[in-house]
Amino acid sequence: MNFHTRKWVKPEDLNPNGTLFGGSLLRWIDEEAAIYAIVQLGNQRVVTKYISEINFVSASRQGDIIELGITATEFGRTSITLTCEVRNKITRKSILTVEKMVFVNLGEDGLPAPHGRTEIKYVKDQFQDGDADS
Ligand SMILES: CC(C)(COP(=O)(O)OP(=O)(O)OC[C@H]1O[C@@H](n2cnc3c(N)ncnc32)[C@H](O)[C@@H]1OP(=O)(O)O)[C@@H](O)C(=O)NCCC(=O)NCCS
Repeated sequence: MNFHTRKWVKPEDLNPNGTLFGGSLLRWIDEEAAIYAIVQLGNQRVVTKYISEINFVSASRQGDIIELGITATEFGRTSITLTCEVRNKITRKSILTVEKMVFVNLGEDGLPAPHGRTEIKYVKDQFQDGDADS
């Protein structure tokens, strides 16, 4: 799993208890996962279809640096299934896991469309001078 995106937990991201607000975290994850699906499927028209159980494993506090990791676990006909983990960048302590997030590839008509992808595409396979990140 590649942990591409880092976030610095700021006052505006906190709940009244002074820890990271779950809604902020879910917003970051949904955006990160959507970008991952867009890159993997080569189509900007993808939508979130399903998010499985979300496990808030441990709290994060103001000033923490956290990182979001996403990887594809399954390529369907029109869908892609991802799994996600958020952890503290310094301590590596897990903050949240989402077992399954399903995104659907849409055509111009807004209906599910086959994406033709079967495996993770790495940047190094897309660009000559890219690195190994997906
Ligand atoms: C996404 C949407 C077009 C799919 O429509 P649909 O009628 O369910 O489409 P289908 O039944 O053809 O399913 C499409 C794919 O989603 C998968 N899927 C459907 N329901 C699912 C569910 N509950 N869980 C997991 N996967 C599901 C199907 O297996 C299929 O994947 P496959 O082609 O790889 O096998 C429609 O549900 C929709 O517009 N939902 C709202 C999306 C949205 O607004 N998201 C939030 C903002 S991004």
